[in-house]
Formats: sequence, C-alpha cells, structure tokens
Amino acid sequence: MNEFNENMIEINIPATEPDRQYFFIEKCADLVHEKELKLGRKLSACIKTFGCQMNSRDSEKLTGILKEIGYEITEKEEADFVLYNTCTVRENANFKVYGRLGYLQGIKKDNPHMLIGICGCMMQEPDEVKKIKKSYRFVDVVFGTHNIFKLAEIVYGRLTSGKMYVEIQEGTADIVEDIPSTRKYPFKSGVNIMYGCNNFCSYCIVPYVRGREKSRNPQDILAEIRQLASDGVVEIMLLGQNVNSYGTNLETPVSFSRLLQMIEEIEGIQRIRFMTSHPKDLSDELIEVMKNSRKICRHLHLPLQSGSTNILSRMNRRYTKEDYLNLAGKIKDAMPEISLTTDIIVGFPGETEQDFAETLDVVGKIGYDAAFTFIYSKRTGTPAAAMEEQVPENEVKERFDRLLKLVQGGSARLNSRFTGHVVDVLIEEINEQNPELVTGRMSNNSVVHIKGGADLIGKILPVRLDCSKGFYYLGSLVSE
Ligand code: SAH
Ligand code: SF4
Ligand code: F3S
Repeated sequence: MNEFNENMIEINIPATEPDRQYFFIEKCADLVHEKELKLGRKLSACIKTFGCQMNSRDSEKLTGILKEIGYEITEKEEADFVLYNTCTVRENANFKVYGRLGYLQGIKKDNPHMLIGICGCMMQEPDEVKKIKKSYRFVDVVFGTHNIFKLAEIVYGRLTSGKMYVEIQEGTADIVEDIPSTRKYPFKSGVNIMYGCNNFCSYCIVPYVRGREKSRNPQDILAEIRQLASDGVVEIMLLGQNVNSYGTNLETPVSFSRLLQMIEEIEGIQRIRFMTSHPKDLSDELIEVMKNSRKICRHLHLPLQSGSTNILSRMNRRYTKEDYLNLAGKIKDAMPEISLTTDIIVGFPGETEQDFAETLDVVGKIGYDAAFTFIYSKRTGTPAAAMEEQVPENEVKERFDRLLKLVQGGSARLNSRFTGHVVDVLIEEINEQNPELVTGRMSNNSVVHIKGGADLIGKILPVRLDCSKGFYYLGSLVSE
C-alpha cells in the first residue's frame, strides 16, 4: 500500500504505532521546511470540517499533526494545503463538498504546488472515491475515517510519489491515540469515548462509514481527561454515536453511568456533557447519576426522529412513541430544570399525515429547547433507500415547514423560562456581532451574551439573566 518512490527506500520505518507516525511527521517536516526555504515563507494549511462533533474532534487531531509537520494553520482556503473533512449523513452534505472542490481547483491554478485533501465519512463510500479518482484528478490525498492518525504517512506518500495518494481502511483495527492533537478552545474539549455505531437505523449511513461500535478503555479515557484538566480544561463533551451503550463490549464491561461517576471525581473538570443518547439505551441508573451529579450538565440531546410508533419501527429505532414519552417524563421528574433537545426526520418513506401528526403531538407534549429538523435524505445502501412509498417532495416540504414553526415557537417560549435567575455561565468567546460583549453557555446549553472582555474567556461565572431574546439571553455579571 505504501509505494514510496524507489529512490527513497527507507530501512528504518518503525513498524508499531504511534512511533511510525512520529517518524513520518519528521520526514514531512523536512520536506515542508525545504519548500519554505525555496519560497521564502511559511507554508499554511486549512482544514474545513463538515458534519458532527466526531468530525470536529477528528479535525483537532488532523490539525495537531499538520502543526507538528510545520504548517501554519489558517481559516482561509487560499492555503498551501487544504483538507476537507467530509460528512455524508445527508445527500446535501456531499453536494456542498463537490461544489467547493470546483472552487478549490480555481485556487490551485494560481498556486500549482498547493495540496488538496479529502477525508472523513464521504470517503468511506467507494462510489465517492471512484468519482474523485475519475473526475477530480487535481485532488492530492484521499483517506477515510479509520486512518486519520496516518495523515503524516499519507502526505509523505503523496509528496514522494508525486501522484494522487488514496488510502481507505475498511474498519478500525486498532484505536491509535497518543498522536498530536490541537484543541480549538483551551478551556473545553471533546473526548471520544467510543467510535462507530451498531444500531443500523434504517435511514442512516453512519454505521457503514464509521464502522462497528468500539468503546475505548475507561483507563485511557480517564487519563486523557486528567491530562486535559491539568492543561486548564474545565468542560468536556463525551462523544459517541450512542453513549448509552458505552462499555458493553469491553473485556470488563463498564456502564456509561459508571464512567460518568469516575469522570466526576477528576479535579479541575467542572462541567461534563455528552452526545448522543439513544432513547432505547438510556437507563434509570443514568438518570439517577445525572440527578446526583454536581458536574453533569442539565442538558440531554435525545433524538426522537419520529413520533409515530409505526415509523419508528420502520426506522429500526427500537422504541415506541409511549416509550419515548415515558422516558422524557422520568427525566423531567428527576430534573425539572433540564433542557431537552432532539433530532427529527420528516418524510421518511411511508410517513402518512397521521404519522406526522404523531410527531407534532410529541413535540407539543415534550417542549424541546431546540430541535434539529431534517428532510429525509435517501442514502444508497441503507435499508430505507430500498423502501417503496417515498413521500412526494412537496408534501415533505409542507410538513417540514409546519414542524419548524411549532418547534421554533415552543423553544422561544421555553428559552425565556430562566429570566431573572442567576446561573453559572462558561464564557466562551467575544461576541461576533458586538465586540463589547462576550458569549457563554449555561449548564443547559442556552446561550447568554454579557458585557465584558477577553479576560473572562474560559471562566465559569455567576450571571443574572436580565432578559430573553427568544434563542438567547442578555445577562450581567454578578459579583461574588
Ligand atoms: N447517532 C446520533 C445521530 C447521528 S446523525 C443518533 O442516533 O441520534 C445526526 C442526525 O442526522 C440524526 O439524529 C438524524 O436525525 C439525522 N439523519 C441521519 N440520517 C439521515 C437521513 N438519511 N436523512 C435525514 N436525516 C438524517
Ligand atoms: Fe445513525 Fe442510528 Fe447510529 Fe445514530 S444510532 S448514528 S441515527 S444508526
Ligand atoms: Fe456526518 Fe460522519 Fe458525523 S456522516 S454526521 S460527520 S459521523
């Protein structure tokens, strides 16, 4: 697979990871440095991330490697190396990438030594890789979700072969950690607790592009979080497609609730979030642990997908409308101040007006702080793609608009319920529109803008919520 230029026979490439990658990082660093001397300037790299938090976390790892190689990281796509970390959960995501690749080709014409890379979920689909190989010859490196840790080896392959370098792995053979990684925020970080997904919801492509579910060892997770805490991180987001099934396949099984309890004990970590919870696996034990925790945030993202038991069964979600309502009821009884958010798909094959009415009914009953609504997108290879009774586009659009109206009205009303309260806010950044304001998040993930400067960033401070603007609050600092 690693067909390096014959002139560059390497006899001492380490066989084991992560040593092998550190070897290639050094090799790439030499090549990048040579280029810098020739051009008389530093080389820059830009990573554009599409999709979910998994991809964002992967991009932090990719950034870490590129920095180590010597690239200066930039937001601009007029860079020496542009890497797209792609998502393929809906067809639109793919269209976006192809559109932007056309634009990159234009930039490359002015900068012929520029490298263009594509990685991530879309590249785990053989048809997409074929398309890149055939019609996008100006792309330099292509890799998938299972070998992001090999970025340096892949770039080295491209630089020494002079040809498009494609390396896709079928599944996660080993979890290779301990490679460089850069955090986007110094005070908060995502932490992968598991990779892949075993649920095979009938519409979803994620299990095909991310592979089988694999939990990390609790010791490794705890060590990573301890390290983050000692680096000054106060908030962590535990990441997995279905965190509630964490640990079931470990040699010594550990439940997600138990993992949370162990993380809670780590000094310095003040807030714990997690994403995503599958309703079918959310245990009473987890509700109890959340309720008694000082650190677990008062927010649960609990994807509903549909309120119709019939559609849920066709989606292979393995819960009914009543199961979901009971579960949400239990959660709210235990933690009345909690914010629930959700994902909903409109127009799944076979969805009737009656089925859709059930979705509206659940949305009305639960009262979500936010709901992400999606139009069903047919993903080749998934069971739903072969289902007959695809819903006509105009009907789907009409339902989608009705749902959006209900969701937005409900969340605006809910989002004002803490007006007048004093709550802890983690200040995250200078406000984009008004530099005199800083923006932070409450435990329940609501956004608050307050007067203040960069010195507040990264601190958790008591804030009075003066007024609600629907989807955010305006607040003021309360001196302690
Ligand atoms: N693992 C998470 C979600 C991952 S994908 C979970 O189980 O909730 C994020 C969201 O994208 C899903 O919750 C779903 O609402 C939406 N989604 C996934 N596949 C889709 C498709 N084919 N069409 C439209 N929306 C989809
Ligand atoms: Fe997709 Fe379902 Fe897995 Fe979520 S749980 S990633 S929706 S298959
Ligand atoms: Fe997209 Fe991959 Fe996430 S398909 S939603 S980036 S796991």
